[in-house]
Amino acid sequence: MEGLDEILGGGFVPGSCVTISGGPGSGKSTLCSQFLYHGYKELGENGVYVTCTESPEEIKNNFRDHGWDIDEAIRKGKIKILDMRPVLATESGLITRNEALFEGETIPFSVVAKGTLDEIRRSHARRVVLDSITTIAMQYSGEFQVRQGLLGLVQGLSNEDCVSLLIVETIGAKNIIPAEWALSHGVVLLNYTSEAAEVIRSIQVVKMRRTAHDQAVYGMEVSKDGIVVHTDVKV
Ligand SMILES: Nc1ncnc2c1ncn2[C@@H]1O[C@H](COP(=O)(O)OP(=O)(O)O)[C@@H](O)[C@H]1O
Ligand SMILES: [Mg+2]
Repeated sequence: MEGLDEILGGGFVPGSCVTISGGPGSGKSTLCSQFLYHGYKELGENGVYVTCTESPEEIKNNFRDHGWDIDEAIRKGKIKILDMRPVLATESGLITRNEALFEGETIPFSVVAKGTLDEIRRSHARRVVLDSITTIAMQYSGEFQVRQGLLGLVQGLSNEDCVSLLIVETIGAKNIIPAEWALSHGVVLLNYTSEAAEVIRSIQVVKMRRTAHDQAVYGMEVSKDGIVVHTDVKV
């Protein structure tokens, strides 16, 4: 992805797990969809989008809204959308826990991790998106459980020959370093502020292990064509 690759000092390192952090509407899902689509369209790389919050149809619409032909990518077996929503609404109107996602689990996140890793291997994926870690973490009561689960997930993903983007919702928690940040190899922070009627979006690479990256906060836009990073505008 132009712009972002530039501030990353070349792009994401293969085998890395990178947290994409930001508040609601900051552009996390768009950035990750673009990452998968770009990989498919420009580099012929396979991708997996694990959704824990929106339905697969909603995820497809996020691609379609930007003119990215997700249906073609799915048809060709290049991008796979994996539905891992922990809670599902049934046709009768009842809301049920998706028991299959927790079956026989002794370590938190095990089933989600295994399902994701199985799919990565099956489809020889080079790019993976998990939308979002926050939703999975919310299914567990304790901080310890979440850390344990994350550690296993990050370890599993690191063993694969792919770049994994882990989406994390941050809501006004500027001083808190969430476990996701500490355990992943890198952190990209998306932010926006409003000034009068204008929304000012920004992107910052806060952490990236093994990369001489740029730490400045750059201007960013979410347009019809997706995320545009303005490497000439520091905010
Ligand atoms: N096709 C589009 N054209 C312009 N702006 C868009 C388009 N699609 C989404 N956006 C803007 O991008 C924002 C970020 O969306 P999204 O990536 O879903 O955020 P997040 O996943 O962080 O909640 C939306 O709230 C909207 O303002
Ligand atoms: Mg989203």
